[in-house]
Amino acid sequence: MTENTPNQINRRVVVAARPSPAVTEACFRLEEAAVPEPGDGEVLLRNHYLSIDPAMRGWIAEGPNYSPPVPIGDVMRSFAVGEVVRSRNANYREGDFLMGRFGWQDWAVANEDAVDRKVDPAEAPLSANLHLLGMTGLTAYLGLLDVGMPKEGETVVVSTAAGAVGALVGQIAKIKGCRAVGLTGSDEKVADCLESFGYDSAINYKTADDLSVALAEACPDGVDVYYDMTGGPISDAVMDLINVGARIVVVGTMAVPSSPTPMGPRYNRQILVKRAKMQGFLVLDHFDRLDDAARELARWYREGRVTFREDISQGLDTAPSQLFKLLDGRNRGKALVRLISA
Ligand SMILES: NC(=O)c1ccc[n+]([C@@H]2O[C@H](COP(=O)([O-])OP(=O)(O)OC[C@H]3O[C@@H](n4cnc5c(N)ncnc54)[C@H](OP(=O)(O)O)[C@@H]3O)[C@@H](O)[C@H]2O)c1
Repeated sequence: MTENTPNQINRRVVVAARPSPAVTEACFRLEEAAVPEPGDGEVLLRNHYLSIDPAMRGWIAEGPNYSPPVPIGDVMRSFAVGEVVRSRNANYREGDFLMGRFGWQDWAVANEDAVDRKVDPAEAPLSANLHLLGMTGLTAYLGLLDVGMPKEGETVVVSTAAGAVGALVGQIAKIKGCRAVGLTGSDEKVADCLESFGYDSAINYKTADDLSVALAEACPDGVDVYYDMTGGPISDAVMDLINVGARIVVVGTMAVPSSPTPMGPRYNRQILVKRAKMQGFLVLDHFDRLDDAARELARWYREGRVTFREDISQGLDTAPSQLFKLLDGRNRGKALVRLISA
């Protein structure tokens, strides 16, 4: 429990400038303000963990996206887990933990709309509500099962395979009886894929002599589901191996710079010849299914069938550098910031 008389200042990280196009120190500013007072229907939360997500690059960019950019001067948008310190909402009591969009700040006032889920601390560690039982877990679960529709014995290929989403996709593919093949950017992450996340095969796409050859060896029966989080050269190599009826789930574009839009191979012929289906997936469309997905993921976690790795920094001021690290691929596991001392 944290103190319930917040006679303190609220430190918060605000958006100071748009990326141009790189996300740099200049994009953020640390500020201090009074701890806000909850109004009718609102709660005051003490944030314990902040989520750091690749999508943040898009959230602060000027260009068109699936949600409006965070206005300059506003607190950086972020999922967080916080403890209710004062409640003026009958659904939440002091001491409850909530996961929702509470921003990069020590204290947040939130109404019902900003809350995505009431946390059950017995289910999993608090921080897991920002990945396994949160946005990335739902992305892995629904993106793979609803769109990828993997069948037993099929081959599922995953890019950013050792990351927050990818680690779970590989493990869920194994639960469903598939061959899981991961692509990732370092030997340490290859080891994570093989030793922790159950992948049958994992490739360091940065050091492979010939990515197409390495992939063909890892996928002797071709590719039935491609869970694509990069686009770019990795996807070009995977697309050459897709089977008839393959499903390509487009979830992320880590290898596609914001600008200028790069040119690349055209996939029309592979999709036609293989009668494949390519579909975009956006988790924000599916938050009404978070509770159901989290229940099953929590059960798999309790049964020891899924695990995770976290990359945690300490202190609000580390949030921007955690984001730079993630965008450079230097994170090893789900990127988080802890605000309360461990
Ligand atoms: N559509 C949705 O609703 C949704 C929801 C959540 C996440 N996503 C997307 O899923 C992807 C993974 O998210 P996450 O939270 O799980 O992050 P993550 O995988 O934990 O971290 C991002 C990883 O991307 C890889 N990367 C960075 N630059 C790259 C490049 N140029 N080429 C290839 N890979 C690069 C790095 O891993 P390596 O070392 O392996 O290269 C880095 O560690 C992101 O694209 C994110 O936007 C989409």
